[in-house]
Amino acid sequence: MTQLRKITFAETNLDGLDAVEGAIGVLINAAGTLSPGARRVNRLSKGAVAKAVASEAWEKLSEGSALTLAMPVGLQAEAVVLVKLERRPQVAMARKAGAALASAVGSKALMLLAENTTRTADVALGLALKGYKFADHLSEKGDPLEGAVICVKDPGAEAKAVSDALAVAEGVVFTRDLVSEPANVLTTTEFAARLEALRDLGVEVEVLEEDKLAELGMGALLSVGQGSESPSKVVVMRWKGGGDEAPLALVGKGVVFDTGGISLKPAAGMEDMTMDMGGAGVVSGVMKTLALRGAKANVTGLVGLVENMPDGKATRPGDIVTSMRGVTIEVVNTDAEGRLVLADVLWHAQQTEKPAAVINLATLTGACIIALGHDNAGVFSNDDAFANKFLKAAEAEGEGAWRLPLGKGYHDQIKTLKADIKNTGGRPAGASTAAVFLERFIEDDMPWIHLDIAGVAQVAKATTFAPKGATGWGVMALDRLVRDQFEQG
Ligand code: BES
Ligand code: MN
Ligand code: ZN
Repeated sequence: MTQLRKITFAETNLDGLDAVEGAIGVLINAAGTLSPGARRVNRLSKGAVAKAVASEAWEKLSEGSALTLAMPVGLQAEAVVLVKLERRPQVAMARKAGAALASAVGSKALMLLAENTTRTADVALGLALKGYKFADHLSEKGDPLEGAVICVKDPGAEAKAVSDALAVAEGVVFTRDLVSEPANVLTTTEFAARLEALRDLGVEVEVLEEDKLAELGMGALLSVGQGSESPSKVVVMRWKGGGDEAPLALVGKGVVFDTGGISLKPAAGMEDMTMDMGGAGVVSGVMKTLALRGAKANVTGLVGLVENMPDGKATRPGDIVTSMRGVTIEVVNTDAEGRLVLADVLWHAQQTEKPAAVINLATLTGACIIALGHDNAGVFSNDDAFANKFLKAAEAEGEGAWRLPLGKGYHDQIKTLKADIKNTGGRPAGASTAAVFLERFIEDDMPWIHLDIAGVAQVAKATTFAPKGATGWGVMALDRLVRDQFEQG
């Protein structure tokens, strides 16, 4: 599992700066006002900081970006990294500055002089997130990530903000690790074991095995995993930080590998389907964050863990299965499996948890990627007010999200002759027909949001806060939503 860079906060002490190893970071506003720490670095480096800040390069630097002075004279440090940041930055800008620092220092130790700037917890979050590297399976893991010390006026004053920010980083990294892990390692059994470890943080974890799922009548979910050697499981994680309020239920698609089943996918790009458990990964990351920061809210995470494989026992196109709700489904395409998994977990979530609201996440459709690309997840909801709250939380956290429609026309598209519904509605509006399929498993008047994260869970190029690969999209938005809408005083 990926270790986060160790980030600590300390009171600013400028003695011994000349002997600091690794990198020294300095936050400087656009006007180039030097803090006492920056002035000290400037003096020790014989004016290098002032010279840099007076340069055209500094003038052209956008806010939240870094300018590196390599091998400065007068200092033991290998680099001085100047980051342009206003003294009272916006959250997003503070995080961007932290990410810029992470890119600039690589694995080197960092001492950041931040005594004149607010929102240093957000700088720390950006630093932690952008420093992520999934190296578990590399024989050459590279240099270990050295720690960072952020020097501020009063470390005590920021302690809660800092521990919350690091809880968020831990959750995001947990999600990224799960998404990055190949399917021969992250089997359904291994996934469940990693979730059981959340018990150490005070999360109640229940693992439902196949016999129990059969007893509950989860014929839709079980039909997906029956071609695999890995047993299907549902894991229920309860964080009870909020008294006797009805919980928020978070439901995730956890297809540890999606071959398409008998409706086999083409070979090109199939390896990407190791990330088809991304929805379950986000739910898991959020649970970890909530536990680590001791959220005063009740949230239940439920994930359906299955593997979609072709086999003699696998479901065939044309098979009809019965969901836990009793709705019968004609499986016309075994590659539209995520909705079958979610159908039963969504229904189970509502029956057992009696939630106040339900949010599900899934790498559900290629059609959503065609519609929105990799910058926005698809947001589908039966409740405008709830959807708007989520969109606001996502925007505040810089996670792209865009509303797409539900509606009767799409429900009509999944009608079929021999069963209540079929599991695909053809090519038109593929993201919406998948969404209304899920809606069939939502009780009347239950506020519900479906997030199609197929395009955002894993991306082919680096983002502001993540290297290429798993992003952890959604952990921050959902944590923010819980904070703002479900947490008590
Ligand atoms: N896991 C895929 C969707 C997906 C595609 C996620 C690309 C991430 C990247 C899902 O199970 C799937 O195969 N969906 C089909 C549905 C179709 C058969 C109706 C799709 O989108 O093609
Ligand atoms: Mn599929
Ligand atoms: Zn899938």
